[in-house]
Amino acid sequence: MALRTSPEVGGMGHSIKRKEDPRFIRGKGNYVDDLQLPGMLYLDIVRSPFAHATIKKIDAAKALAVPGVLAVITGQDLAKYNLHWMPTLMSDTQMVLPVEKVMYQAQEVAAVLATSRYTAADGVAAVEVEYEPLPVVVDPRKALEPGAPVLRTDKKDKKDNHIWHWEWGDRTATDQAFAEAQVSVKQDIYIPRIHVASIETCGCIAQWDKVNGKLTVWMTTQAPHAIRTVFALVAGHVGLAEHKIRIISPDIGGGFGGKVPVYPGYVIAVAASVLTGKPVKWMEDRMENLQADSFARDYHITAELAAKKDGRLTAIRIKTVADHGYTDAAANPSKFPAGLFHICTGSYDFKAAHVEVDGAYTNKPPGGIAYRCSFRVTEAVHTIERMADIMAHELGMDPAEFRFANFIKPEQFPYKSALGWEYDSGNYAGALRKAMDRIGYAELRREQALKRERGLLMGIGISSFTEIVGAGPSKHFDILGLKMFDSCEIRIHPTGKAIARFGTKSQGQGHETTYAQILAEELGIPAADIQIEEGDTDTAPYGLGTYASRSTPVAGAAAAVAARKVRDKARQIAAHLLECSPDDLVWEPGKFSVKGAPNRFKTIQDIAFAAYTNHPAGMEAGLEAVSYYDPPNLTYPFGSYICVVDIDKGTGEVKVRRFVAVDDCGNIINPMIVDGQIHGGLTMGFAPALLEEISYDEIGNIQGGSFIDYLVPTAVETPKWETDKTCTPSPHHPLGAKGVGESATVGAPAAIANAVVDALWHLGVRHVDIPITPAKVWKLLRERGVTE
Ligand code: CDP
Repeated sequence: MALRTSPEVGGMGHSIKRKEDPRFIRGKGNYVDDLQLPGMLYLDIVRSPFAHATIKKIDAAKALAVPGVLAVITGQDLAKYNLHWMPTLMSDTQMVLPVEKVMYQAQEVAAVLATSRYTAADGVAAVEVEYEPLPVVVDPRKALEPGAPVLRTDKKDKKDNHIWHWEWGDRTATDQAFAEAQVSVKQDIYIPRIHVASIETCGCIAQWDKVNGKLTVWMTTQAPHAIRTVFALVAGHVGLAEHKIRIISPDIGGGFGGKVPVYPGYVIAVAASVLTGKPVKWMEDRMENLQADSFARDYHITAELAAKKDGRLTAIRIKTVADHGYTDAAANPSKFPAGLFHICTGSYDFKAAHVEVDGAYTNKPPGGIAYRCSFRVTEAVHTIERMADIMAHELGMDPAEFRFANFIKPEQFPYKSALGWEYDSGNYAGALRKAMDRIGYAELRREQALKRERGLLMGIGISSFTEIVGAGPSKHFDILGLKMFDSCEIRIHPTGKAIARFGTKSQGQGHETTYAQILAEELGIPAADIQIEEGDTDTAPYGLGTYASRSTPVAGAAAAVAARKVRDKARQIAAHLLECSPDDLVWEPGKFSVKGAPNRFKTIQDIAFAAYTNHPAGMEAGLEAVSYYDPPNLTYPFGSYICVVDIDKGTGEVKVRRFVAVDDCGNIINPMIVDGQIHGGLTMGFAPALLEEISYDEIGNIQGGSFIDYLVPTAVETPKWETDKTCTPSPHHPLGAKGVGESATVGAPAAIANAVVDALWHLGVRHVDIPITPAKVWKLLRERGVTE
C-alpha cells in the first residue's frame, strides 16, 4: 500500500504559521533563538508520520511554489556529498536525511529552506511524501526474538536487531553465591523512556563565511569542542577543516544530557549555509524536541539479590535489555556501551556481582542519552535501591536496619567494588542516620502501624544511593577516542584583573560564579575581578564539555591546578621584588609576605603588574597558566533520601507528604548553587517516579509527544523538599569536592517508589514500575479488593 500523506498526520503538525503569533515574540537574550543575523535564512523539517516506512516519493513542487521558500533538501541531495549518514558518538551510524526509508515516527524526511520561519513552516506543510509502511518493532525484547523483522537493512551483514552484548563481573562466583544463598529475591523492573524537556529546545545558526572559508555555528551544545572535532571528521572531505570551524555555545536553557548528541537539524543547517553562503537558522519546536531528540532510560531489567538469613547481602545478578531505538547514539564513554550501569552494587558491600546488558534496535528515535545522570547511573541506583527494599521486606527487616547491616563502612574506603570501581570516600550510615533523625523515622513507623490498623495507606521509602561522576580518568574514559580530561586557562592582566576560560559549558549551573570563587580562593583576586568564559572553541582551551556532573570534579580541579601554577610563578616574581628567596615567602590569599616580617609583602596585584613591567631577568613576561586536568579517579557523591507518601484508596493518587534529602558532595564551593542543584534534581527525580513517560503503541505512534501527555511537574505538583548535608571530602580532588548536579535525579525515584511499595506490601504488592500513576495504583488496589 502506498500512502500519500501530509506531515500533519500522526500529530506532527506545524501549526505555528502566523507572523503575529505571540510565541515568537521573545525578549532579547543570548540564547540561540534570540540571535539574528542579517540575511538569515530559516530551516524547518518535514517529519515522518510513520515509524517504519519506505519513502516512495518526495514531491516538493507545491512547497517550492510557496513565496519565500528557496529549497527543499532531501537525503538524495545530501548523498551527493556523502552527508546523508553521520556517525554517532557510539560509532554507529545515524541518518541525517533518509534516502530509502524512515525508522521512527517524527524522523527527519526533508528540510525546507526559506526566508522566514513562517514560510519555512508553510513549505513543510506543502511537501508531499509517499510512504510504503513496513512492519514496526517497538519492544526490544521482541526485536531480539528469532524471526523479528531486521530493522537496519542498511547494514549489509546484519541479520538481527542485536547491537551488542556487554557483561561485567565474576559470573562463576556470582552463580555460586546464588546457589548457596539462604534467601534470594528476583524482580523484573522496567525503567521507561523519558525525555529531558529542557526549557530551551535545540537549535543553531550556521554561518559560512566564504571569503575566509570559515564556518561559525552558534548551537545549543553541551560539548562544543567535541562537536567541532566531529564536524571536521564528518565534513573534512568537503573542505571543513577543524581550524576553520568555530562552535559557539551561547547561553543554554538546560541540557541534562539532551544537548550532547549531534542532531540532523544542525548538520542540514551547516550544509544549507555552505551551499547558499547565507546564515541559516534551525530551531526545533517543543513537539519535535519531545518526539525526535535522543531519549533516556528504556531499560528492561531482571535483577536478583542473594543474602543470608540475618540480612547480610552476598551477591547481585542483573540481566538487562536496553532499547537504543534505531541507532546506538548513546552519549556514553566508548569503553562502556551500557554506561556506568555497573555501579549497581550501590552503597553495599557485595562479595560477588555480575551484570549483563544487551542492546537492541527498535523503531524509535536514537537513544541512551542521559536524563540528568552520569551514563545509566539512575538505572543502576533504581535497581539496587528497589531490590534492597524488596529483600528487606522479604526478610521482615526494617529497610533502614537492612541498609545499616550492609553499607560499606567508612573505614573500608578507598573501597574496591565487586564490579571493579574504586569508591573514593563515603559515610553512608552517617547520611542515613541524619536523614532518619531529620524526618523522625521511628515516629513515622509508629504512625504507619496505627494508620494501617485503620486501613489507611501510608508508606516510608528510603534511597541510600551512591553516585559516580567526574569522567575521566582518561585511561578508562573517552568519547570517539577523545580522552576525557578537562581544562582551564587563566591570564592575569597587568592591573590584577583576570580572565579564565574553560573547556566545559554551563547550561544554568552557575559556573561563572563557582569557577570565579575557586580562582578567587586560590589566588586572592576578588571574584568580581575575574571574567569567566566557556563555550567558544576559538578561545577556550579544549575540553570535553559539561554533562554527567563532571564540571566540578574535572574542570573545577583544572581551575585549582592552573591557579596554583600561576601562584608558583607569582612567588618567583614576589621574591624578585622583595629581594629574598622564594622559600622565604609565605602565601596567604592575596599576598606573599616575608617569613617573620609580615609588613614586607607584595599583593597579587603588585605581582601581576611586575609580571609585565619588572619581571626577573631570564623569566618570560606575563602571568598565566593552563591545566588540562586528568582526574586520577571518579568522585563518588552519595546521599540518603527518605520519602513519606499517603495513598488515596479511592483514586490511587500518591501524595508525597514529606521528602528529606541528605546529600554529600564533599567540600562545597557554593552552598546556594548546590541547594539549587538538589532542588531541581529532586524535581527531576519526582517527575519520572510519578508522572513522566514516553511510550509507543504497537505501530510506533508516540504517546507523550506533547506537553498535553508528557507530564512535566509544575510548582503545583512538586513537593516541598527538605534538604540537609554531610561532608565527606574526596581524597583525590584538589579541593576535596565531588560533583552534585545529578545526585538528586539519581537518588529520588527509588525513594518514592519504595515508599509506595512500603504502603502496599501488606496487600501483596512487591513492585510497581515507574511512573506510578493513579491508574496503576488504582488497578492494584481493586485487584486486591481494596475500595475506598
Ligand atoms: O557538570 P555540572 O556543572 O553539571 O555539575 P557539577 O560539577 O556537579 O556542578 C554543578 C554546580 O554546583 C556548579 O556550579 C558547581 O560549581 C557547583 N558545585 C559546588 O558548588 N560544590 C560542589 N562540591 C559541587 C558542585
